[in-house]
Amino acid sequence: MIRLGINIDHVATVRQARKTFEPDPVEAATMAERGGADQITAHLRADRRHIQDYDIEALSAAVQVKFNFECASEEEMLSIACRLKPDQVCLVPENRQEITTEGGLDVVTHRDTIARSVDRLQQNGIFVSLFVDPETTQIAAAAELGVEAVELHTGAYSNAQTAEQLQQELAKLEVASAQVAASPLRLHAGHGLNYSNVQPVARIAELEELNIGHSVIARSISVGMESAVREMKQLISLAVT
Ligand code: PXP
Repeated sequence: MIRLGINIDHVATVRQARKTFEPDPVEAATMAERGGADQITAHLRADRRHIQDYDIEALSAAVQVKFNFECASEEEMLSIACRLKPDQVCLVPENRQEITTEGGLDVVTHRDTIARSVDRLQQNGIFVSLFVDPETTQIAAAAELGVEAVELHTGAYSNAQTAEQLQQELAKLEVASAQVAASPLRLHAGHGLNYSNVQPVARIAELEELNIGHSVIARSISVGMESAVREMKQLISLAVT
Protein backbone atom coordinates (compact mmCIF):
# COMPACT_ATOMS: atom_id res chain seq x y z
CA MET A 1 0.00 0.00 0.00
CA ILE A 2 1.28 3.47 -0.89
CA ARG A 3 1.92 5.79 2.08
CA LEU A 4 -0.07 9.00 1.90
CA GLY A 5 1.74 12.07 3.21
CA ILE A 6 -0.47 15.07 3.80
CA ASN A 7 1.28 18.39 3.29
CA ILE A 8 -0.25 20.75 5.82
CA ASP A 9 1.55 23.97 4.76
CA HIS A 10 -1.66 25.24 3.26
CA VAL A 11 -3.35 25.31 6.66
CA ALA A 12 -0.62 27.66 7.83
CA THR A 13 -1.08 29.75 4.67
CA VAL A 14 -4.65 30.53 5.76
CA ARG A 15 -3.52 31.36 9.29
CA GLN A 16 -0.70 33.61 8.06
CA ALA A 17 -3.14 35.54 5.85
CA ARG A 18 -4.33 37.11 9.13
CA LYS A 19 -1.24 36.38 11.23
CA THR A 20 -3.50 34.88 13.87
CA PHE A 21 -3.62 31.53 15.69
CA GLU A 22 -6.16 29.69 13.52
CA PRO A 23 -6.41 27.34 11.74
CA ASP A 24 -3.81 25.32 13.61
CA PRO A 25 -1.58 23.01 11.51
CA VAL A 26 -1.12 20.68 14.48
CA GLU A 27 -4.87 20.22 14.88
CA ALA A 28 -5.13 19.71 11.11
CA ALA A 29 -2.38 17.09 11.28
CA THR A 30 -4.23 15.24 14.04
CA MET A 31 -7.43 15.22 11.97
CA ALA A 32 -5.48 14.07 8.92
CA GLU A 33 -4.09 11.18 10.97
CA ARG A 34 -7.64 10.25 11.97
CA GLY A 35 -8.55 10.20 8.28
CA GLY A 36 -5.74 7.73 7.63
CA ALA A 37 -2.73 9.88 6.73
CA ASP A 38 0.42 7.78 6.96
CA GLN A 39 2.67 10.79 7.15
CA ILE A 40 2.52 14.52 7.79
CA THR A 41 4.67 16.73 5.60
CA ALA A 42 5.56 20.33 6.34
CA HIS A 43 7.86 22.73 4.50
CA LEU A 44 9.67 25.43 6.47
CA ARG A 45 10.61 28.04 3.90
CA ALA A 46 13.34 30.63 4.39
CA ASP A 47 10.73 33.38 3.94
CA ARG A 48 8.40 31.75 6.55
CA ARG A 49 5.41 32.45 4.33
CA HIS A 50 3.34 29.63 5.81
CA ILE A 51 4.84 27.17 8.31
CA GLN A 52 6.69 28.89 11.18
CA ASP A 53 9.51 27.57 13.36
CA TYR A 54 7.09 26.96 16.23
CA ASP A 55 4.89 24.82 13.91
CA ILE A 56 7.82 22.56 13.10
CA GLU A 57 8.64 22.19 16.81
CA ALA A 58 5.00 21.44 17.66
CA LEU A 59 4.47 19.07 14.75
CA SER A 60 7.65 17.23 15.49
CA ALA A 61 6.35 16.55 19.01
CA ALA A 62 2.69 15.90 18.12
CA VAL A 63 2.71 13.88 14.91
CA GLN A 64 2.08 10.20 15.63
CA VAL A 65 2.66 8.89 12.11
CA LYS A 66 5.82 9.63 10.11
CA PHE A 67 6.94 13.25 10.03
CA ASN A 68 8.50 14.45 6.79
CA PHE A 69 10.33 17.78 7.05
CA GLU A 70 10.70 19.54 3.72
CA CYS A 71 13.38 22.18 3.45
CA ALA A 72 16.06 23.75 1.30
CA SER A 73 19.62 22.53 1.47
CA GLU A 74 20.70 25.44 3.69
CA GLU A 75 22.51 25.73 7.01
CA GLU A 76 19.58 27.12 8.99
CA MET A 77 17.24 24.32 7.91
CA LEU A 78 19.82 21.57 8.28
CA SER A 79 20.52 22.55 11.87
CA ILE A 80 16.78 22.51 12.67
CA ALA A 81 16.50 19.08 11.05
CA CYS A 82 19.51 17.69 12.91
CA ARG A 83 18.14 18.96 16.22
CA LEU A 84 14.54 17.70 15.73
CA LYS A 85 15.45 14.52 13.85
CA PRO A 86 12.26 14.04 11.84
CA ASP A 87 11.65 10.60 10.32
CA GLN A 88 12.52 11.99 6.93
CA VAL A 89 13.91 15.13 5.33
CA CYS A 90 12.98 15.94 1.76
CA LEU A 91 15.39 18.47 0.28
CA VAL A 92 13.71 20.85 -2.16
CA PRO A 93 14.85 23.88 -4.16
CA GLU A 94 13.57 27.27 -3.07
CA ASN A 95 13.07 30.44 -4.99
CA ARG A 96 11.64 33.52 -3.31
CA GLN A 97 9.49 34.54 -6.29
CA GLU A 98 7.71 31.20 -6.72
CA ILE A 99 4.13 30.54 -5.60
CA THR A 100 5.04 26.93 -4.84
CA THR A 101 8.05 24.66 -5.43
CA GLU A 102 8.36 24.99 -9.19
CA GLY A 103 11.00 22.50 -10.23
CA GLY A 104 13.03 19.71 -8.78
CA LEU A 105 16.48 20.06 -7.22
CA ASP A 106 19.29 20.40 -9.71
CA VAL A 107 21.40 17.64 -8.18
CA VAL A 108 23.76 17.62 -11.16
CA THR A 109 24.75 21.30 -10.82
CA HIS A 110 24.69 21.53 -7.02
CA ARG A 111 26.07 18.10 -6.39
CA ASP A 112 28.78 19.06 -3.86
CA THR A 113 26.57 21.26 -1.69
CA ILE A 114 23.77 18.70 -1.71
CA ALA A 115 26.24 15.89 -0.93
CA ARG A 116 27.42 17.77 2.19
CA SER A 117 23.82 18.31 3.33
CA VAL A 118 22.91 14.67 2.72
CA ASP A 119 25.97 13.48 4.67
CA ARG A 120 25.12 15.67 7.62
CA LEU A 121 21.50 14.51 7.72
CA GLN A 122 22.42 10.85 7.34
CA GLN A 123 25.02 11.13 10.09
CA ASN A 124 22.14 12.24 12.30
CA GLY A 125 20.23 9.09 11.39
CA ILE A 126 17.75 10.88 9.12
CA PHE A 127 16.24 9.22 6.03
CA VAL A 128 16.88 11.59 3.12
CA SER A 129 14.77 12.11 0.04
CA LEU A 130 15.57 14.49 -2.84
CA PHE A 131 12.77 16.18 -4.77
CA VAL A 132 13.75 15.84 -8.43
CA ASP A 133 12.20 16.19 -11.85
CA PRO A 134 11.60 12.86 -13.63
CA GLU A 135 14.89 13.16 -15.54
CA THR A 136 17.53 10.48 -16.04
CA THR A 137 20.51 12.66 -15.12
CA GLN A 138 18.93 13.95 -11.91
CA ILE A 139 17.94 10.47 -10.75
CA ALA A 140 21.39 9.10 -11.55
CA ALA A 141 23.02 11.95 -9.60
CA ALA A 142 20.70 11.32 -6.62
CA ALA A 143 21.58 7.62 -6.66
CA GLU A 144 25.29 8.45 -6.72
CA LEU A 145 24.88 10.58 -3.59
CA GLY A 146 23.54 7.55 -1.73
CA VAL A 147 20.27 9.13 -0.57
CA GLU A 148 17.52 6.78 0.52
CA ALA A 149 14.78 8.07 -1.80
CA VAL A 150 13.77 10.47 -4.52
CA GLU A 151 10.43 12.22 -4.72
CA LEU A 152 9.53 12.67 -8.37
CA HIS A 153 8.04 16.07 -9.14
CA THR A 154 4.59 15.43 -10.63
CA GLY A 155 3.97 19.12 -11.40
CA ALA A 156 4.36 18.83 -15.18
CA TYR A 157 1.93 15.88 -15.19
CA SER A 158 -0.53 17.77 -12.97
CA ASN A 159 -0.36 20.91 -15.09
CA ALA A 160 -0.80 19.13 -18.45
CA GLN A 161 -3.34 20.98 -20.59
CA THR A 162 -4.31 18.26 -23.05
CA ALA A 163 -4.91 14.50 -22.86
CA GLU A 164 -1.87 13.99 -25.09
CA GLN A 165 0.37 16.07 -22.83
CA LEU A 166 -0.97 14.22 -19.81
CA GLN A 167 -0.01 10.87 -21.38
CA GLN A 168 3.44 12.17 -22.28
CA GLU A 169 4.08 13.40 -18.75
CA LEU A 170 2.75 10.16 -17.27
CA ALA A 171 5.08 8.20 -19.56
CA LYS A 172 8.02 10.31 -18.30
CA LEU A 173 7.07 9.51 -14.71
CA GLU A 174 6.82 5.80 -15.58
CA VAL A 175 10.23 5.74 -17.26
CA ALA A 176 11.78 7.65 -14.35
CA SER A 177 10.14 5.25 -11.90
CA ALA A 178 11.65 2.26 -13.69
CA GLN A 179 15.08 3.91 -13.43
CA VAL A 180 14.53 4.47 -9.69
CA ALA A 181 13.34 0.87 -9.26
CA ALA A 182 16.55 -0.38 -10.88
CA SER A 183 18.60 1.57 -8.31
CA PRO A 184 18.75 1.28 -4.51
CA LEU A 185 16.52 4.40 -4.25
CA ARG A 186 12.98 4.26 -2.87
CA LEU A 187 10.34 5.94 -5.00
CA HIS A 188 8.14 8.81 -3.79
CA ALA A 189 6.13 11.34 -5.82
CA GLY A 190 4.08 14.45 -5.40
CA HIS A 191 3.08 17.98 -6.35
CA GLY A 192 -0.15 19.16 -7.88
CA LEU A 193 -1.89 15.82 -7.46
CA ASN A 194 -5.63 15.91 -6.86
CA TYR A 195 -8.71 13.68 -6.68
CA SER A 196 -8.98 13.55 -10.49
CA ASN A 197 -5.39 12.89 -11.49
CA VAL A 198 -3.92 10.80 -8.66
CA GLN A 199 -4.88 7.32 -9.82
CA PRO A 200 -2.64 6.89 -12.89
CA VAL A 201 0.34 7.94 -10.74
CA ALA A 202 -0.73 5.65 -7.90
CA ARG A 203 -0.69 2.73 -10.38
CA ILE A 204 3.07 3.04 -10.84
CA ALA A 205 4.13 -0.27 -9.33
CA GLU A 206 7.30 0.88 -7.58
CA LEU A 207 5.71 3.85 -5.83
CA GLU A 208 5.91 3.82 -2.02
CA GLU A 209 4.85 7.33 -1.02
CA LEU A 210 2.74 10.21 -2.29
CA ASN A 211 2.78 13.69 -0.79
CA ILE A 212 -0.36 15.71 -1.42
CA GLY A 213 -1.30 19.08 0.02
CA HIS A 214 -3.30 21.73 -1.77
CA SER A 215 -6.08 19.55 -3.13
CA VAL A 216 -6.75 17.74 0.15
CA ILE A 217 -6.66 20.93 2.24
CA ALA A 218 -8.99 22.60 -0.29
CA ARG A 219 -11.43 19.68 -0.08
CA SER A 220 -11.26 19.71 3.70
CA ILE A 221 -12.99 23.11 3.66
CA SER A 222 -16.08 21.37 2.25
CA VAL A 223 -16.03 17.96 3.92
CA GLY A 224 -13.61 18.28 6.84
CA MET A 225 -10.02 17.07 7.03
CA GLU A 226 -10.77 13.52 8.12
CA SER A 227 -13.11 12.86 5.18
CA ALA A 228 -10.86 14.68 2.69
CA VAL A 229 -7.94 12.42 3.63
CA ARG A 230 -10.10 9.29 3.71
CA GLU A 231 -11.41 10.00 0.20
CA MET A 232 -7.87 10.43 -1.13
CA LYS A 233 -6.71 7.23 0.59
CA GLN A 234 -9.62 5.37 -0.95
CA LEU A 235 -8.84 6.61 -4.45
CA ILE A 236 -5.24 5.51 -4.05
CA SER A 237 -6.17 2.09 -2.73
CA LEU A 238 -8.73 1.57 -5.52
CA ALA A 239 -6.06 2.47 -8.08
CA VAL A 240 -3.67 -0.17 -6.82
CA THR A 241 -6.19 -3.01 -6.45
N1 PXP B 1 6.01 17.38 -2.50
C1 PXP B 1 6.83 18.45 -2.43
C2 PXP B 1 8.31 18.19 -2.40
C3 PXP B 1 6.33 19.76 -2.36
O1 PXP B 1 7.18 20.81 -2.31
C4 PXP B 1 4.94 19.95 -2.34
C5 PXP B 1 4.36 21.33 -2.25
O2 PXP B 1 4.70 21.95 -1.07
C6 PXP B 1 4.11 18.80 -2.40
C7 PXP B 1 4.67 17.54 -2.50
C8 PXP B 1 2.62 18.91 -2.37
O3 PXP B 1 2.17 19.65 -3.47
P1 PXP B 1 0.65 20.07 -3.55
O4 PXP B 1 0.38 21.02 -2.45
O5 PXP B 1 0.55 20.69 -4.90
O6 PXP B 1 -0.16 18.81 -3.42
